[in-house]
Amino acid sequence: MYKSIGVKPYLMPMPVLIIGTYNEDGTSNAMNAAYGSMRDSRTVSLYVQAKRKTIANILWTKAFTIHLANGENRQEADFVGCVSGNRVADKVEQTGWSATKSEDVEAPVFASFPLVMACTLLSYDPEDGHLVGEVQNVLVEETLLDSYGHLHVDEMALLTYNPAEKCYNIVGDRVGEAFATGLNNEDQEESDDNDSSRSTEEERRQALIRNRPERVARVQRMERVMNELASLQAELNQALDHFESFKEQSDAFDAYYSSRDWMDDYEASSLGIIPEEIDQGVLTEDLPYDVLCENDELGRRMRDLARKLLLR
Ligand SMILES: Cc1cc2nc3c(=O)[nH]c(=O)nc-3n(C[C@H](O)[C@H](O)[C@H](O)COP(=O)(O)O)c2cc1C
Repeated sequence: MYKSIGVKPYLMPMPVLIIGTYNEDGTSNAMNAAYGSMRDSRTVSLYVQAKRKTIANILWTKAFTIHLANGENRQEADFVGCVSGNRVADKVEQTGWSATKSEDVEAPVFASFPLVMACTLLSYDPEDGHLVGEVQNVLVEETLLDSYGHLHVDEMALLTYNPAEKCYNIVGDRVGEAFATGLNNEDQEESDDNDSSRSTEEERRQALIRNRPERVARVQRMERVMNELASLQAELNQALDHFESFKEQSDAFDAYYSSRDWMDDYEASSLGIIPEEIDQGVLTEDLPYDVLCENDELGRRMRDLARKLLLR
């Protein structure tokens, strides 16, 4: 049974995002932001109040970094969320975070975060505090990547802000595969063993590696077949273009063969009126007939081929 509790900012879990920016004097600033998310696959959308030092910084550098906090930087993350760079100039220094310049944007990258996004400013509305940034690059702590370059988010221990209880929580276990669990009707049990789904993935990889030579040969063979098919299609299309554009002349030849003109030319040829040195296959009985019949044969063949192609 539901109980109504009024308007609350409870779209949970909320992330703990540490926004890094440069002050005018080149030192770094950081703030904690929980009102943030991806707007689409390459833009971020945040709510940051206009009075924040962070906003003044972003408006002149046109850039910022977003650090996903984890359990290890919880205390400092909270500190930069309580103290403003407007009042405390050495705020970042006090956290102990070491900062280097991002290679992608004009903003600092703080060490010891699992993941950092380098963003450029797309828009900021001081009226409603809506900040939109475009992601230019993402940096991840390399120990979170396996040998295949896959990111293991469950090892990040990401920190989330819990607005209902004004506290922090850590993101929990992996419990199922997205875009698959529902479709396969998978009944994935909640598991506190984070390694189980990864080992399944590894087993699958190993199974696929087992037949590698045959697999590679098959891919190569199919690649050749695909390319040959494409070039045959191009040739056939070219021939059909030619054939179709010849239709008018072909019809004229068909009409000639059954015309009075043909009979007169045939007679003239037999009387030696047509010079012997020119080819006169068209005035024989069989050759024109065979060529015209071949049109019917081709029509039937194309019809049968079309049926096969379309029934695929
Ligand atoms: C958990 C937490 C979440 C916060 N989320 C936001 C937020 O989404 N937007 C915002 O404007 N301020 C937020 N704040 C407040 C700022 O982090 C705080 O005012 C900070 O001192 C601003 O720093 P600056 O003035 O140096 O930019 C949050 C603070 C905390 C502790």
